[in-house]
Amino acid sequence: MGKLIDGKQIAKDLRAAVARQTEKLATQGITPGLAVILVGDDPASEIYVRNKERAAGKVGVNAQTIKYPTDASEAEVLAKIAELNADDSVDAILVQSPVPSQIDEHKVQEAIDPRKDVDGFHPENIGRLYANREGYYPVANTPRGIMTMLQHEGVDVAGKHVVVIGRSILVGRPMAALLQGANATVSLLHRYTPASLTELLVSEADIVIVATGVPGLIKGSELKAGAVVIDVGINRLEDGSLVGDVDFESAEPVASLITPVPGGVGPMTIATLLQTTVELAAQHHGVALEDPWQTI
Ligand code: GUN
Repeated sequence: MGKLIDGKQIAKDLRAAVARQTEKLATQGITPGLAVILVGDDPASEIYVRNKERAAGKVGVNAQTIKYPTDASEAEVLAKIAELNADDSVDAILVQSPVPSQIDEHKVQEAIDPRKDVDGFHPENIGRLYANREGYYPVANTPRGIMTMLQHEGVDVAGKHVVVIGRSILVGRPMAALLQGANATVSLLHRYTPASLTELLVSEADIVIVATGVPGLIKGSELKAGAVVIDVGINRLEDGSLVGDVDFESAEPVASLITPVPGGVGPMTIATLLQTTVELAAQHHGVALEDPWQTI
């Protein structure tokens, strides 16, 4: 019977640790600043952005949201990014994805100062991650949050075989890079992976991380007994219920550890975003931070 990984609780502990860091920074006159740009009125994005703002306020991060209508021009958004890059009160910049089609997302990602790139999507930061560079640089928050969860649960990935399904720049690719950096052997699967190969690799995996957006893609019968299962999917079914990319009911009895949906990976992303914001602020002002997990 699988033990649940309580992402909600781990995220709460992480937010508390981040709040302690901002308190320390406040004594040095530093308030971390996060600027979120939202273009258009996608309801899911509006909810995410509101949640980010609310969570930021509670841990002492000064968040501002800059909203643009759906027909905003690329030039307008790029001009705002340039202004935020130059604004000393802003330590972290995030442009909520997806953006409307007239805006080139890659241009937007490259316009953000890599030192304020809280998503870790700038090619310079992606390059550092792939090269497994030492030193501090921002890394995409969802995969980083998953590494935190695994660490929190005492799962050492070194020497393990990890199957990551989905190769997005948001999750799958940086996830694979982080795991490789931590000495895991990683199989990165995607929609073109032959089904027979997926079956073979998943059945041999110590850890399975699924980020595809396909509800119930992975079933318990496909897993190795005792596998650790991380479900990144958040899919709303027609009946309004939320489900992951893993068929929880069949996977839970086979797994040793498993994340629920909701309440698993989801809450970790925002908590990690706040963690990264505070780190960028500390970098910006040249002050050292303690590792938040050492202070819990
Ligand atoms: N949209 C959904 N998730 C994310 C994220 O992590 N960062 C950004 N910028 N947009 C998103």
